[in-house]
Amino acid sequence: MKQKVILDVDTGLDDAAALFLAAGAKELDIVAIIATAGNVGLDKTVENTLNVIETTGLKCPVFAGSDRPLVRQAVEAGDFHGETGLDGPVFGKRVIQELQEEDGISALIRLIKTYPKEITVISVGPLTDLAHALQKEPALPSLVKEIVVMSGSFSGGNVTEDAEFNAYADPEAAKIVFSSGAPLVMLSLDITRTVTLTRERLDYLRMIEGRSAEVFSQCMDTYMANYESKKFGWPQMHDPLCVAYVMDRSKFVAEYKRVVVDTNSVSPSYGMTSKENLDGTGGVTIPTDIDRAWFWEMMERSLRNLP
Ligand code: RIB
Ligand code: CA
Repeated sequence: MKQKVILDVDTGLDDAAALFLAAGAKELDIVAIIATAGNVGLDKTVENTLNVIETTGLKCPVFAGSDRPLVRQAVEAGDFHGETGLDGPVFGKRVIQELQEEDGISALIRLIKTYPKEITVISVGPLTDLAHALQKEPALPSLVKEIVVMSGSFSGGNVTEDAEFNAYADPEAAKIVFSSGAPLVMLSLDITRTVTLTRERLDYLRMIEGRSAEVFSQCMDTYMANYESKKFGWPQMHDPLCVAYVMDRSKFVAEYKRVVVDTNSVSPSYGMTSKENLDGTGGVTIPTDIDRAWFWEMMERSLRNLP
């Protein structure tokens, strides 16, 4: 039975890799995709998401989510993703994909209520859309099957010394989501930093036939160059790991903790996530290790499944 998923993305380069992995995965039924502001502004993440989904040939609706964080001034990550947020590939005129009229947060709530306990939300950008949805529909934690997020770090940040980008871009939203009581899975930098794309592997994946593999490779070329220029080593597969978790959680090892977010906007650790032991419920499942060979087999399989 395919798992119904809704992807919430701030399409940037690793978000694109997550979209390709999901679109080519036979385990998943992508019910909707919501583009939100994050790596770059909403206008660009919408355009990037529509172009990637057009490339996959997937017939699934794309909605626009939030255009700004709940409280703080917007921050972006163009230094990793380029001025467009998806520097590298050049796209032609789209013939399938156009943005849906309905706003993404209404669509998120509507679909979760239409399919109670069946929808897994995979969020790989700032958690603004989920925070709005939880505020609008307090019953959401009992209606959603699971929420899987790429957010936070327990071992130092990638945008400040303490904070990871998605949590830092909207700490107030992250706090709402982590304290919502919804069934939550959090892939932090602690695990996503450990899955990287080497030049050898990229050159292998580039040989796969099809426009999807070509666009993926062009995105990864940019991602790899930006990591190299920052001397950050090989590019890290943050967002696709969240999709992989939903595809087969048996390939991961995880712990269960309470997660707290620093929402003190004048603190140097603003947006930092910390974990605490807890007895009983209200915690977050935190994957700590993954079968890396399996992950890359799935990435290759998805690219071979796509046009
Ligand atoms: O810190 C990594 C996260 O921030 C990823 O989701 C990447 O796309 C950026 O949004
Ligand atoms: Ca992202």
